[in-house]
Amino acid sequence: MRILVTGGAGFIGSHLIDRLMADHHEVICLDNFFTGRRHNVWQWVDHPNFELIRHDVTDPIRLEIDQIYHLACPASPVHYQYNPVKTIKTNMLGTLYMLGLAKRVRARILLASTSEVYGDPTVHPQREDYWGNVNPIGIRSCYDEGKRVAETLAFDYHRQNQVDIRVARIFNTYGPRMLENDGRVVSNFIVQALQGIPLTVYGTGQQTRSFCYVSDLVEGLIRLMSGEIIGPVNLGNPVEYTVLSLAQRIQGMINPDTAIEYQPLPTDDPQQRQPDISLAMKELSWQPGVGLKEGLQQTITYFKSQLLTKAGPMDSLASMSENKLS
Ligand SMILES: NC(=O)c1ccc[n+]([C@@H]2O[C@H](COP(=O)([O-])OP(=O)(O)OC[C@H]3O[C@@H](n4cnc5c(N)ncnc54)[C@H](O)[C@@H]3O)[C@@H](O)[C@H]2O)c1
Repeated sequence: MRILVTGGAGFIGSHLIDRLMADHHEVICLDNFFTGRRHNVWQWVDHPNFELIRHDVTDPIRLEIDQIYHLACPASPVHYQYNPVKTIKTNMLGTLYMLGLAKRVRARILLASTSEVYGDPTVHPQREDYWGNVNPIGIRSCYDEGKRVAETLAFDYHRQNQVDIRVARIFNTYGPRMLENDGRVVSNFIVQALQGIPLTVYGTGQQTRSFCYVSDLVEGLIRLMSGEIIGPVNLGNPVEYTVLSLAQRIQGMINPDTAIEYQPLPTDDPQQRQPDISLAMKELSWQPGVGLKEGLQQTITYFKSQLLTKAGPMDSLASMSENKLS
């Protein structure tokens, strides 16, 4: 198949492309390189089945394809809050144009939505039929509400124009190729521990998160795209950890001598996040298989190699101190 991956040079997109290329598809990677990096897909650049297009999804594009994985959108607060209006445009216009493209060429389109559509949930764990508790005017709203409107667009194109949609609600995902300065808990703690500086925990650290290793997530996305249900479907790891216990685990794995430092909780930071994945288990026969220890080990190895190749680790240190937790 000829498959378009928007946001394909990013963290999840590039792992998805590795998998699609290994499965012998023709892949078009479309990215504006805001948070994506060319070297994430560099290994495929000369491959005859691969095409890399620098393009911003807020502008329309015409392509002949069979499937679209629509992932283009910065995913970490530090990046989506950098230019909130642009984030809303990316979610709204970008999704509108991709759905229009899917309609025109009759392609199946998978929207990468997010657990953030549940906001600060009052129901725990979150099932797909929970409508969420989202602040419409807060600093996270450009992303949360942007993804909610993207889902609305997808379902309206489906009902009105019979566009063949799939909607994945992705929960916290981690692994190699995360950006070291994006303020997400896993990357933050690993980079801080590797640099021997205190691990920053916001609030008391008792807020919980679940962490899905990227290869598990990619498998879920591919099963959703190939399957019959349109979603929305939660894709995430239901095993829940407090942020403090994650910090302690990473501290133990890298450098038990590093300290833990507490800072005030950012606005609208959700207290609990845990997917109910019964639907994915039933309909896609999917559940995560990579345990936290194994996933963290892979991720630590990646960040070690990244920090070693960097001339000045202090650069990333300086930018990290301005970051907010995901
Ligand atoms: N990583 C997670 O934990 C997580 C959780 C929930 C949802 N998601 C969703 O999954 C998708 C991928 O996330 P990720 O973690 O790989 O993030 P990422 O920031 O690494 O990747 C996003 C990619 O989209 C590109 N992009 C951003 N705006 C664009 C635009 N206007 N035009 C073209 N390209 C653009 C970026 O350059 C980047 O390559 C996103 O839609 C995100 O909302 C991710």
